[in-house]
Amino acid sequence: MPGISFDRAVDYYDATRGYPPGVAERLRDAIIAALELSRSAQILEAGVGTGRIAIPFIEAGYFYAGVDLSRRMMGQLRRKLDSRVHRVHLICGDAMHLPIADSTFDAVVMVHVLHLVEDWRQVLNEAHRALRPGGAIVLADEVRGECDGADHTPRAQVQRAWSAILDELNVPPDQRRDGAPHGLDERFRDHLHALGATVERTTLITYRQQLQTVREVARRYQERMYSSCWILPDHIHAEAARRLQHWIDEQCPDPDTPRDAPARIDAMIARRT
Ligand SMILES: C[S@@+](CC[C@H](N)C(=O)[O-])C[C@H]1O[C@@H](n2cnc3c(N)ncnc32)[C@H](O)[C@@H]1O
Repeated sequence: MPGISFDRAVDYYDATRGYPPGVAERLRDAIIAALELSRSAQILEAGVGTGRIAIPFIEAGYFYAGVDLSRRMMGQLRRKLDSRVHRVHLICGDAMHLPIADSTFDAVVMVHVLHLVEDWRQVLNEAHRALRPGGAIVLADEVRGECDGADHTPRAQVQRAWSAILDELNVPPDQRRDGAPHGLDERFRDHLHALGATVERTTLITYRQQLQTVREVARRYQERMYSSCWILPDHIHAEAARRLQHWIDEQCPDPDTPRDAPARIDAMIARRT
């Protein structure tokens, strides 16, 4: 299996992963500024999904190509575009074997995809191959929480509770995808350096996350809306969901108070020399 297809997530992906209004547009502008992209720049996104990152670029008139294993996710992207003519090219394919000629793109964007693919090194090799000299790979990821590093958001509280429950249930690492890289893993930097790229890390934007309650986030785990829940055997997931409900009912002090928190989107930017 080349990666985890999000076919099953298409009906709820945007509702559960969307940014607050205006954030995706600010992210686009920050990427354009960081890469000094001209209006004629050609951009590729590996794992384009429903276009959370792509649509602001496409609507601003950039040429944007997207590759994804999931035809359904890309179908959703298309449905969201307005009726104007757009410069967009969507390809159902595997980021480990990009169906793209060498040295074609000015930028290759990847957000929330390297932890899903079978071999992230191969995806970075392919992204680097697809870049023109001087072009850049942008790996972007959200960093949540207060500036002291503490994360008291409902998402983080539930994540910690869920992880403790999986520990109690002795769920082995392969059923939790513990080996998968998270965020802007330093191994990405090492691999990109080995490819000959120069790599810098930067903060693209800061924003406030959507208001959420613990109960809402917990329901996403209980209803298997996160990909980390998909590989758990059904009976383990059912037991973990039951224990999470017990945690909400008995231990969580405030499950229904909406909270937001500061967040930022950081990037690793690797330029092909
Ligand atoms: C979490 S979504 C992220 C989508 C988008 N980048 C965003 O930030 O909203 C990950 C996407 O990567 C796709 N994907 C997973 N493995 C892949 C692979 N090997 N090649 C191409 N796409 C892949 C999934 O189908 C899914 O649409």
